[in-house]
Amino acid sequence: MCGIIGILGKGDVTDQLVAGLRRLEYRGYDSAGVCTIVDGHFDRRRAEGKLDNLAKKLAIDPLPGHIGIAHTRWATHGAPTEDNAHPHIVGDVTLVHNGIIENFKELRDELSAEGRSFASQTDTEVVAHLVARELERGKGPIEAVKAVLPRLHGAFALAMMFKGHDNLLVGARLGAPLVVGLGEGENYLGSDALALAPMTQKIAYLEEGDWAVLSREKIEIFDRDNKPVTREVTLSGVSGAMIDKGNHRHFMQKEIFEQPVVVAQTLQAYLKPLDGKVALPIPEFDLAEVKRVTIVACGTSYYAGLVAKYWFEKFARVPVDIDVASEFRYREPVLEPGGLALFISQSGETADTLAALRHCRAEGQKIAVVVNVPTSSMAREADLLLPTNAGPEIGVASTKAFTCQLAVLAAFAANLARAKGKMPADEEREIVKHLAEAPAALNAALAHDEEIEKMAPLVAAARDVLYLGRGPDYPMALEGALKLKEISYIHAEGYAAGEMKHGPIALIDDSVPVIVIAPSGPLFEKTVSNMQEVAARGGRIVLISDAAGIAKAGEGAVATIEMPDCHPLIQPLVYAVPVQLLAYHVAVAKGTDVDQPRNLAKSVTVE
Ligand code: G6P
Repeated sequence: MCGIIGILGKGDVTDQLVAGLRRLEYRGYDSAGVCTIVDGHFDRRRAEGKLDNLAKKLAIDPLPGHIGIAHTRWATHGAPTEDNAHPHIVGDVTLVHNGIIENFKELRDELSAEGRSFASQTDTEVVAHLVARELERGKGPIEAVKAVLPRLHGAFALAMMFKGHDNLLVGARLGAPLVVGLGEGENYLGSDALALAPMTQKIAYLEEGDWAVLSREKIEIFDRDNKPVTREVTLSGVSGAMIDKGNHRHFMQKEIFEQPVVVAQTLQAYLKPLDGKVALPIPEFDLAEVKRVTIVACGTSYYAGLVAKYWFEKFARVPVDIDVASEFRYREPVLEPGGLALFISQSGETADTLAALRHCRAEGQKIAVVVNVPTSSMAREADLLLPTNAGPEIGVASTKAFTCQLAVLAAFAANLARAKGKMPADEEREIVKHLAEAPAALNAALAHDEEIEKMAPLVAAARDVLYLGRGPDYPMALEGALKLKEISYIHAEGYAAGEMKHGPIALIDDSVPVIVIAPSGPLFEKTVSNMQEVAARGGRIVLISDAAGIAKAGEGAVATIEMPDCHPLIQPLVYAVPVQLLAYHVAVAKGTDVDQPRNLAKSVTVE
């Protein structure tokens, strides 16, 4: 979602600001802008659409200035027009914002009643007006911000500059991430450490309700009660090089191909292959006491949770509830003592998931979190933190984070099963052995890239595509359909194979490709029966299975993709690869924006 960067520099800052925005592009946006202070006055350029449009404007009309703020906007209130793009300027303040001011209507009415007029439809401009009003009333910048922050309901990360103050940046966060970067005679604000990576790795993460006052010489941070606080400065460990496509055409392609390495990297932290044991961080609570697991997540992370439900119930015999985060709180879930709430998120910042986490905390649940960003809000609020070591994921459609989540969740399920006395040592040894085989199996799956590329036109020409699977392959069908929708804009549905005849079968004719995910195993024959129902109605089947499955049922398919033989435990990881590659090649064939698909955001920090 929206990206923020602010720089108090030694020289002109616009180039660095735009470079910072490029590193934030992955979050998803539809307009951008930058503002600096030149000779005590604001100077601003904004543009609809991609950053290149802003860069073109800046090339024609450069923007000097040693202090500046910049923003990529993902539209919430108001269309992605230049007028709605940030920074917004009202009187002596200019600011950029990520999040949603929920009481903006009420605030706007209050300000309108005083005769104030608005240049945009955004909720953000209301904040600028509130600060400007305090400045007009005679307050200094810091007092003005202090007066306004308590009036804002909802979620925000803000960066502000003030006319006539070219050594002052003010930032504030509540419900949306904001970091402070420490440089040499320079200081910075950013949505994440990645945005600031080439300038500094010294990062202080603001906590909920914090606000910060930056000059080139010093940084002061205050909590929501305006008490000065110290926030630890950590080395982010992210470098500009981490967000390079290397030899790949897209980040998504690079990230798909990184999977054998990052899954190995992730498993390394969770397996002790020589002892035949899984090894998780020791939680502050007793896993043996866990009576129920409640999984909450969004998007692809939710599908990782759906797979995990099979594992937790099969291995640990613990009942599992699972919800998409946006529905969870509003259905008044029953959360009994002894419950463990498990949140899965690549970013660790997804607003709905974070809100669900806080709800579960308030309801007395223990909190476990599987996240890819170990410094994220969710990571910091966990009782048990289980990081995925996938490295920065830039492509909006999640790929490597997903398989790493699955790896962690499989290890967690085994650990919980052992703690609950449900997993004998020899079974655990087997699990560890099979999980350790995952990186090689992922490599073998990736070897089918060219073949999958050749079948892309079949899917690219379709209007609707169905994905079918049973058991843990059902979530893979959902994930396959989601990937295709996200990046190729083709309508796709994932269905439990046996449920197809209760509806989607009505869609099937010879224009509908049906992707069947069916490794051999106990459910294979049943899925093949459903496949035959598709074939009988002229549907064009792509069968993803192993050699034995293809030998048995491949004949009825227009195309087959042969996955390596692998243990059922790691099949969801391995079968993720062909559905990712298929979506990728279809999107490339259609010429869509693979890494930044329209309307989508990487990190969804609004509800
Ligand atoms: C967005 C992204 C998806 C992601 C989902 C959940 O929709 O485009 O790729 O799966 O958010 O994000 P999270 O960071 O919580 O995993």
